[in-house]
Amino acid sequence: MKNRQFLLNARPEGLVKTSDFRLVEGAVPEAQDGTVVVRVDYFSLDPAMRGWMENRADYVAPLAFGDVMRGGGAGEVIASRSAQLPIGTRVAGQFGWQEYALAQPEHLAVLPADLPLATSMSVLGITGLTAWFGLHDIGQPKPGNTVLVSGAAGATGSIAGQLARIAGCRVVGIAGGARKCEWLVHELGFDAAIDYKAQDVKTEVRRLCPAGIDIYFDNVGGEILDIALANLAMNARVVICGGISRYNETGELPGPKNYFNLVFRRARMEGFIVLDYAPRFAEGRSALEAELRAGRLRHAETVIEGFERLPEALIALFRGENLGKMLVHRQPA
Ligand SMILES: NC(=O)c1ccc[n+]([C@@H]2O[C@H](COP(=O)([O-])OP(=O)(O)OC[C@H]3O[C@@H](n4cnc5c(N)ncnc54)[C@H](OP(=O)(O)O)[C@@H]3O)[C@@H](O)[C@H]2O)c1
Repeated sequence: MKNRQFLLNARPEGLVKTSDFRLVEGAVPEAQDGTVVVRVDYFSLDPAMRGWMENRADYVAPLAFGDVMRGGGAGEVIASRSAQLPIGTRVAGQFGWQEYALAQPEHLAVLPADLPLATSMSVLGITGLTAWFGLHDIGQPKPGNTVLVSGAAGATGSIAGQLARIAGCRVVGIAGGARKCEWLVHELGFDAAIDYKAQDVKTEVRRLCPAGIDIYFDNVGGEILDIALANLAMNARVVICGGISRYNETGELPGPKNYFNLVFRRARMEGFIVLDYAPRFAEGRSALEAELRAGRLRHAETVIEGFERLPEALIALFRGENLGKMLVHRQPA
């Protein structure tokens, strides 16, 4: 048995390239006292990976050339020297881009045995938790609020929008393409959707949110953030979750020119990092699981088959080729 790994080979310039990674093959690690070996079956693809490759994020340890690429995953314990986690336990953790990982039990989350691993990585994973804490703690939804969500057909946005609907809000999503917009309205129960690639977002936001936006859940930043800022209702909350439109930019980045509307609308704009909520993850997961099991929360995963396609999957995420959560499934070599 061999362990394939992707190592960081270059800092990305513009969009990530496959040559930014190097595929190597080594020995499968052996479990030491108190540790376990996990076979990683699903890998999470996250826009933040672009920043991790450049050491732009201060909430994770820096990555050096030759390090295993950072990333979350889910799989099964295949060797154990820990009484806590017997062989066969399904777990999630930060395993990196490798097929087998040595891990300490205290760094792992034990997953429900009766749900697919892919579900645990999407709606019950980091992006589901991001939606939960971002919307509830920072957005503070109230029945009757108008909520605008960008990146709405992605892993975080699709859950944030549905949670807002469950909280009694009117929800408008922004996503790229007719298929994604139809999915939001016809399958997830969004009240309306704007195709930012085909429609004029400014006109549509004004038309669909005539009394203003009470909560803007932002995954993209850039011009869409500016349009949302210009259309806030009194005491609005702007949740800065992500800004994917800027992640691959190399030149100077434009600031939001409409920020001063926060003053006129007595509004609040707040960013957050979901990892800060780690002490409350169990609470968030059980709330999401309850909604899921009650049939109120739908989710999608876009699964790319084959460990060797991890770099390609990260590029596809930036091209918007995912509906819901982007995952790679490790096929046995
Ligand atoms: N604050 C936190 O702790 C935290 C945690 C997790 C994620 N996030 C952030 O949340 C956001 C969503 O992450 P995710 O994992 O759920 O990814 P995702 O939304 O599932 O996938 C990314 C989506 O972004 C859209 N996109 C790509 N380039 C774009 C551009 N230039 N302008 C507008 N949209 C663009 C694409 O959809 P379209 O086809 O619609 O363009 C793509 O499907 C990211 O910004 C991420 O960094 C933050």
